[in-house]
Amino acid sequence: MRVTINQIKEMKPKGEKITMLTAYDYSTAKIVDEVGIPLILVGDSLGMVVLGYESTIPVTMAEMLHHTKAVVRGTEHSMVIGDMPFMTYHISVADALHNAARFIQEGGAQAVKLEGGVTVTEKVKRIVECGIPVMGHIGLTPQSVHQLSGFKVQGKTLEAATRLLKDAQALEEAGAFAIVLETVPAPLATLITQGLSIPTIGIGAGIGCDGQVQIINDILGSFTDFVPKHAKQYAKLSDIMSSAIAEYHNAVKDGSFPTDKQSFSMDESILAELKG
Ligand code: KIV
Repeated sequence: MRVTINQIKEMKPKGEKITMLTAYDYSTAKIVDEVGIPLILVGDSLGMVVLGYESTIPVTMAEMLHHTKAVVRGTEHSMVIGDMPFMTYHISVADALHNAARFIQEGGAQAVKLEGGVTVTEKVKRIVECGIPVMGHIGLTPQSVHQLSGFKVQGKTLEAATRLLKDAQALEEAGAFAIVLETVPAPLATLITQGLSIPTIGIGAGIGCDGQVQIINDILGSFTDFVPKHAKQYAKLSDIMSSAIAEYHNAVKDGSFPTDKQSFSMDESILAELKG
């Protein structure tokens, strides 16, 4: 049985912290699921940490669905949330609904996430009305990186902070079951969290959120381009991978791999006949 949105919402009043982690492939999702992480986000961060794009903007529905399906196949218990890519929910309510439905129907996800506050509430409302759980995402919204003039902390002025408070309220009223707060000052994230009845999931938003989300490659240390300030490396997989790959490379070159253990034998008489 998978985690439900009601179970996630019930964690807030109980003060139970909510963990969310991204995953993009079957094998990783299986490990995350087995650890017991309740929420797995197939984030459009896929574009940067898996596909090598400079931002999340080039990510397509086809790419997101491909990876969402793999994550769903690897999971039994976690709720899988598909991240709606740039321009797949902006043009019209009908378009947003159609693409959200693809995540559920084709991708097998249980919920979708989309970026924006007041400006996307009409879409959120319609998607929720049609039976698809929606997670909001405000603060630093990477799909708007150009409009925001870079990956910067959001909500630092009175005007910007007031806007974020209104965005969060609007998303709750539109029916979102949770909201990601990305890269906002910790005291503001706490204030937003206290003003909502749905959970907030922070990334670079401090300890006052109801839960936390991280990009799995950041916490495992497998993405080497940069380490965001909000991330803590719980491992340095890039070093482990480099030395294992180098060891393999050397073993092939010096003839110590493969050994009999990694090879397959055949009937000696057949071999003799072939040679004869
Ligand atoms: O794409 C992503 O991984 C995200 C998280 C940073 C919340 O949106």
